[in-house]
Amino acid sequence: MNHLFPTYARWEVEPADAKGTKLIDKNGKEYLDFTSGIGVTNLGHRPDSVQAAITKQLNKFWHVSNLFTQEQQAVAAEKLAHASGLAYTFFANSGAEANEGAIKLAKKATGKDKIITFNKSFHGRTIATMGATGQDKVKQGFGSMLPTFSYATFNDIESVKSLIDNETAAVMVEVVQGEGGIHLADSAFLEELQQLCHEYQALLIIDEIQTGIGRTGKPFAFQHYDLQPDIITCAKGLGSGLPIGAIIGKENLKEYFGPGSHGSTFGGNPLSIASAIATMEIVFNEDFLSEVNEKAEYLLEQLKKSLYNIEEVTAIRSLGLMIGIEMNTNTASLLQFLRNDGLLTLSAGENVLRLLPPLTVTVEEINQAVAILKKNIVPVQTA
Ligand SMILES: Cc1ncc(COP(=O)(O)O)c(C=O)c1O
Repeated sequence: MNHLFPTYARWEVEPADAKGTKLIDKNGKEYLDFTSGIGVTNLGHRPDSVQAAITKQLNKFWHVSNLFTQEQQAVAAEKLAHASGLAYTFFANSGAEANEGAIKLAKKATGKDKIITFNKSFHGRTIATMGATGQDKVKQGFGSMLPTFSYATFNDIESVKSLIDNETAAVMVEVVQGEGGIHLADSAFLEELQQLCHEYQALLIIDEIQTGIGRTGKPFAFQHYDLQPDIITCAKGLGSGLPIGAIIGKENLKEYFGPGSHGSTFGGNPLSIASAIATMEIVFNEDFLSEVNEKAEYLLEQLKKSLYNIEEVTAIRSLGLMIGIEMNTNTASLLQFLRNDGLLTLSAGENVLRLLPPLTVTVEEINQAVAILKKNIVPVQTA
């Protein structure tokens, strides 16, 4: 008997080892990992400098409470502030926990209760963040949600206007909806959204949990647009695989997260912080990110060349190395065929094949992956 709750529809692949883009299963089969742990191992598996930083910390101490001064947390927070243009960070353990804290901070700072999110959004699985999520399937069977949230239509500013009022504490948005199917926000929509937030003195919260830490070719995806969010949240890629989340806010929010207002036993754990600092040292670097952008452009070009003439492919959307290939067929069986041929990929939304290769992927690995995709996307129609 398997004593795990069956919350995940598991794949047959059982990893035994992984390095860079390569993952080897317990039978010795080698895969190209274009999932990156769903946008987590952005530097590939076990990047050397991150592994060295974790090992160094492993040999000092693993955990102390947040009652202690922890200089490395301040170092990590400084890097986040520098990269985002924001000021203060609270460290959590996951994406949902970061969003949960951002919701608390927005309510406390504004003294208001209502938060607008978007259809097809995904913000997490806790009671609050499940409520924030604009997908019914996530909520089914879990009873009543917080009355805080209402849902506007992504990229439709009129739908936001019909919901926002003086009681609105915040608008929370992903600039690329990841789980929802790789949907990109229009820049005009986001800029008007920011304007509306200013008008109603509501905070703009950007959920960068999937899009942050270089995934889209900038440190944070909001930086592709003319935006100054009040709060951003990140997690996933920040720790290269060690659990960490972060709420990063503007300077004027400091007073609302004073002593006793929020906390987490494991938040800012020394091992995760060591991992995050080493990760940010690589990712928040212009040369590194310009290479990411070059590879992203190359991958998109190859995908368009190889797949656009296939009837089943209805759209290819991407920002940096966050890529969605929309199909008019079910992607579940395609994912299985791709795994059989040694390529690990994801689905998103309805009928979208999602690629999240590590930012360190090589041109050769891109070519291999595109060849596997090309080979399998044709047969799936007759399978
Ligand atoms: C945009 C976004 N927000 C929040 C979350 C939740 O993060 P976690 O699974 O770490 O709680 C996810 C996870 O996929 C996400 O993509």
